Amino acid sequence: AGPRPLAGRRVLITAGGTLERIDPVRYITNDSSGKMGFAFAEVARDWGADVTLVCGKTDGTPPSGVQTIRVESAEQMKEVVMSRVPQMDIVVKAAAVADYRPLHREEHKIKKKAETLTLSLVRNPDILQAIGEWKQALPGKRAPVVVGFAAETMELERNALDKLNRKKCDLIVANNVAQEGAGFGTDTNIVSVYGADGFAEHLPQMSKKAVAQRVLELAKSRLAPEGL
Ligand code: PMT
Repeated sequence: AGPRPLAGRRVLITAGGTLERIDPVRYITNDSSGKMGFAFAEVARDWGADVTLVCGKTDGTPPSGVQTIRVESAEQMKEVVMSRVPQMDIVVKAAAVADYRPLHREEHKIKKKAETLTLSLVRNPDILQAIGEWKQALPGKRAPVVVGFAAETMELERNALDKLNRKKCDLIVANNVAQEGAGFGTDTNIVSVYGADGFAEHLPQMSKKAVAQRVLELAKSRLAPEGL
């Protein structure tokens, strides 16, 4: 075994896409495979952390040696995450959370009738923002280092910095999901990392594991000393 820079630390990671049900057999989701979040879970585990992985819809199997909690919807993910955040040292929100869910979840399968069908959607809670607000309301207390993601298709830097400020995270990992070799489903990613402290770093295309290593290094350097 190599060095264990996160020994004794607790890390929570979200991975995959949320799944928002329309009726008993239909749902809305997105292309997240879970690979980015799984890479974080693997690296944090190998670095000695006690890892909780909150997992939506994914392809493949979550890594072994971590505590995996399965959820479907954004609301379920929020409940699980918020109940565990206070015990964590680092929180990484790699999951692709649906911004909207169907206003009504039909009890029975929707029947084919008219030529058009309108589905009403309602805003989901923003989990990352809820963590940021919870953290702000805890002055002076020990709170986790919070790492958010920003999935963009244009104006990467401007949108990522806006999310960093609005969602009050410590670090934000921005990926242009329209770029080849980056974003959903791939084994590699191309990211820029921005910090609330003004930090900025543009990384070349690298494996999702190498991205996770670099980002966890940056999160670790922002941890309060142990015992505080
Ligand atoms: O899973 P893979 O196939 O490996 O793909 C990786 C990825 C593209 C999913 C990942 O790299 C990524 O970008 N994840 C964030 C996707 C996303 O939801 O981005 P966003 O810009 O919409 O959200 C910004 C941040 O707020 C994210 O940390 C997200 O988890 C969080 N969020 C968003 C909406 C919401 N209702 N609650 C949230 O917590």
